[in-house]
Amino acid sequence: MSSTDDWIGALQARTEQALERVLPPADKPPKRLHEAMRYAVLGGGKRLRPLLVYSTGMALGAPEAVLDAPASAVELIHAYSLVHDDLPSMDNDDLRRGHPTCHKAFDEATALLVGDALQSLAFRILATPTSALPAKNQIKMLVLLAEAAGSRGMAGGQAIDLEAVGQHLTLSELETMHRLKTGALIRASVLLGAWCHPTINPHTLENLDRFAQCIGLAFQIQDDVLDVESDTVTLGKPQGSDRARDKPTYPSLLGLTQAKAKAQSLLEEAHQALRVVDAPTEHLEWLADFVVQRRH
Ligand code: IPE
Ligand code: IPE
Ligand code: MG
Ligand code: MG
Ligand code: MG
Repeated sequence: MSSTDDWIGALQARTEQALERVLPPADKPPKRLHEAMRYAVLGGGKRLRPLLVYSTGMALGAPEAVLDAPASAVELIHAYSLVHDDLPSMDNDDLRRGHPTCHKAFDEATALLVGDALQSLAFRILATPTSALPAKNQIKMLVLLAEAAGSRGMAGGQAIDLEAVGQHLTLSELETMHRLKTGALIRASVLLGAWCHPTINPHTLENLDRFAQCIGLAFQIQDDVLDVESDTVTLGKPQGSDRARDKPTYPSLLGLTQAKAKAQSLLEEAHQALRVVDAPTEHLEWLADFVVQRRH
């Protein structure tokens, strides 16, 4: 096994354990809700957002024990966003992470409640007192995640996405939609990792922020590209869903070649931003490449 597989595998395993610890047990009532929450979160997904939290925090020398909470919190918000994104009133998809979507495996009302409960759990975890971090950092992290998830972040981007079905968006409108619906949580993942360092330097924070914004937008561009180019088995979600729902995407607006070129130029900018960060950023560099080169 290469050393890349080693560190990714170790951090993914750490993420699974951290999520397992915080999710309510399926045999405790309300059992159906708890079972559905676990179904939506455990045993699937690339865990990119936790990997970004851990890799940023560890690069800066943040105490490792503090990183589990933000890594889990951001993944819970992400999992909630996927459960709601797949609902019939949104993208109406039946497959997620290679399994029936939450509303298919359970029912729509349960899927709504899963989202509600995962979001609450995320903030509960992030707000749990810890002696390892100044309270002001923890408050900063709560605000960061709240903003990234809310109407000026993921939920707002999802609202724009729904309004945009069948519409023509300008490139700048499409970019805003992508920065919000997907970029915001990816950006928050990096910044949460950074705020796990008790005294973060503003110059470092600024460059990590630039890095995070570039890979956040690139991630959704690549998601759009894969929706055209990949296949359902590899993706674990229905290929062609964007076209079927007449969603504006980077490939639909620019064509595949230009969409890929945009992702590549964002990747280069992300690397440039890391070059001026005075810390061991190899894992972040690898994750940035993965965002654009991934096949699922
Ligand atoms: C899918 O996210 C939804 C988007 C924001 C594009 P991921 O591709 O990170 O999904 P998982 O977590 O690996 O399943
Ligand atoms: C999802 O965008 C953004 C979210 C906030 C979940 P998509 O709708 O393109 O994500 P997939 O392709 O269903 O994973
Ligand atoms: Mg969607
Ligand atoms: Mg979708
Ligand atoms: Mg998509």
